Amino acid sequence: MAGFDATTYGERFADVYDDWYHDVTDTGSCVDAVVALAHRSAGAGNMSSVLELGVGTGRLAIPLAEAGASVTGLDASHAMLDALAAKPGGDGVRTVLGDMVDPPLGPDATFDVVLVAYNTLFNLVGEGQQERCLRRSAELLAPGGAVVIEAFVPATDAASGDSVTTRQVTADRVVLSVNRTDADGRLAMGQYIDISEQGIRLRPWQIRWATPSDLDAMATSAGLVLDERWADWDRSPFTSDAPAHISVYRKRP
Ligand SMILES: C[S@@+](CC[C@H](N)C(=O)[O-])C[C@H]1O[C@@H](n2cnc3c(N)ncnc32)[C@H](O)[C@@H]1O
Repeated sequence: MAGFDATTYGERFADVYDDWYHDVTDTGSCVDAVVALAHRSAGAGNMSSVLELGVGTGRLAIPLAEAGASVTGLDASHAMLDALAAKPGGDGVRTVLGDMVDPPLGPDATFDVVLVAYNTLFNLVGEGQQERCLRRSAELLAPGGAVVIEAFVPATDAASGDSVTTRQVTADRVVLSVNRTDADGRLAMGQYIDISEQGIRLRPWQIRWATPSDLDAMATSAGLVLDERWADWDRSPFTSDAPAHISVYRKRP
């Protein structure tokens, strides 16, 4: 999308993110699953460390820190990191401003879990960016650590085209959702057009989707191997009709 860069999504959604997306997944189960993985890597008695790429407002990172992990959250958007810092518990998360394609973390920084939640890997639409992010994530793993990706499973019959729907209609506000899909390119983009008496706010987004087996192939070339795949954060087994997956990758021995 012309005019869209790594900062755009966060800058345009930070003010509504918690209102619109606070309950998109089960935070408690996510925290339990990620903490269990991180503890397994860190070993008994050691503090475990988690890096969340595209941390946003800390929907997951803050409760992860409250559960006892040492949490670093990276995001390209100042507005998202400001929203995180302003929340109760936000000061428990170390934040880093940067692009998740190549996180600006030194060679000595390693983590028990690198978490890329809620389809955030798909925000990388440039050629090779998802692969690069996975390669850098693998480099940032402590021995025994895991890269954990949460993503939707793309429909096999996705069709190209445009659509307009409504997200919200009240007496004082209309939010229109304008969507464009390029099924061959595995690209989708859109705008939430947020209209109120105060004016119009454009909230653009874009994604390049990948199937679970596409992700496995990218992970393989990043030196990772699939260890576990769940259908949800409750760690229920992944099945062919699951709408989403949580994939746990470890470094290839
Ligand atoms: C869908 S939100 C997810 C936020 C959080 N992980 C959650 O689950 O609630 C995606 C986040 O990724 C950030 N983001 C998008 N592209 C990025 C990039 N290239 N580098 C770093 N952060 C990025 C956005 O600013 C936004 O905060």
